[in-house]
This record gives sequence, C-alpha cells and structure tokens, in this order.
Amino acid sequence: MGWLFNKKSNRSADISLLHTDIHSHLIPGIDDGSPDMETTVELVKQMYDLGYRKLILTPHVREDSFENDPSTFDSRLEDVVQAVKEVGIDMDFEVGAEHTMDETFNALMKTHDLKTFHGKYILVEFPFFNLPIRMKEIFFDLQVEGFKLILAHPERYATYLAKDYETLESLKDRGIMFQMNILSLDGYYGKEVKKFAEYLVKKNYIDILGSDCHNMRHIEAMKKAFQNKEIIDLIESGRLKNNKF
Ligand SMILES: [Fe+2]
Repeated sequence: MGWLFNKKSNRSADISLLHTDIHSHLIPGIDDGSPDMETTVELVKQMYDLGYRKLILTPHVREDSFENDPSTFDSRLEDVVQAVKEVGIDMDFEVGAEHTMDETFNALMKTHDLKTFHGKYILVEFPFFNLPIRMKEIFFDLQVEGFKLILAHPERYATYLAKDYETLESLKDRGIMFQMNILSLDGYYGKEVKKFAEYLVKKNYIDILGSDCHNMRHIEAMKKAFQNKEIIDLIESGRLKNNKF
C-alpha cells in the first residue's frame, strides 16, 4: 500500500502525552495478533520505547473467526504481566476486548458477559461493510445499563459511514466515544480511510487514538506515523482522552 501525501515533520510526536493505548492484540495466541509470549514481550517493549506506559489489551471477540471466551482474559493477562515483569519492563496493563457487533455480541450482552475495562468502558467494532443490525437500540440498552461505549476505528468503516452524516452525528450526540487508529491518518489503510480520518479530526469527533497493534509491521509503521504533522498536531491538541485511562 502506498504512502499518501503526508506532511512529514522533522520531529516525532510526544507519546507521553497519550500515556495509554486502549486498543491492541497482544494477548498471545488467541486472535490475529501476537502468536506467542516471546512476541508479546517484544511488542510490549517496542510500545514502551515509543513512549507508552499503559496498555489496554483488547483481543477480538467475533463470531466464526475469533470465538474467544472473555471470562478467560483476566488470567491470560496475568501471564502477560508476569512475562513482562520478568524482563524488567515497567508497563501498566488492563484487559478488555474488541467486541464485533454480531450474534455473539448479542448473546454475551444477554448473559452479561461483555468484557469491559476501566470500569464500564467497552470497545465495540462495526462490521466492515454495513452498520450492525439494530445498532441504535443496542447502544441505547447498553447505555441504560451504564456502559460507556467506545467505537473502534470509525474511519475504517468509510465505505458506508463516510456518507452517512446522520448516523455519525447521532453517535456523537449520544456520547459514543470515537477511537481512531493512528495509522489511518498516515494512509496505512488506504486513501479512502485516510480521507475520512481527516474529516473526523476536522469535525473534532476523535476522542482517543489507538495503535490497534497486532505485530511488528504496525510498530514500524507507527514510528513513521509519529513524524506525520497531522498526527503530531492531534496529539498536541489536548483534545484526546487517552491519558484518562
Ligand atoms: Fe483491533
């Protein structure tokens, strides 16, 4: 994928301003992220070197492809914490999930088994080609139950959401937090996603920046992205809420 017209700065973003990353796939061996503990420790070290001091790990929970049981996540995190401690990296952790809004999600919602973090925050993902069925009712029900909703990478749903101003506005009006992927603004996911990411930034719709880190390729791409002027400006704007977590 080509890099697209990025304004490069001669300095790097100050990641201590973010402090916390709330979206990554570093629990080993359960999704398309880190395959084993050795890789996890290396990726955590890389995130530390970038400047992060807290990581909220969010394994996929998605029907058919990643049928993970969120009740196992706390003990899986303990193993990561132990392995990271053994090599002397001083990183804080929490574990949540990246819940795709599908039938598995609806079932977990019914049995009160959705995986939250930092109190009642929950990271949800839309399908890539259409809005989730009954999205508004489900969000309403979750909010009534006190959940605080964070929408994972809205810019990546550009194919249907970029033209749907009404839904975008209603999500913001209802207090849904938007988590943008750092790499989106640097063109990593293509031109359409970058353009929509820029639009969302301009509208002040972005609350949180996330790495969505799965592997070393993402780390390398982030090192480059942190020299992108648009990303530096957003991080330094004081509008992001990463450090509230
Ligand atoms: Fe993700």
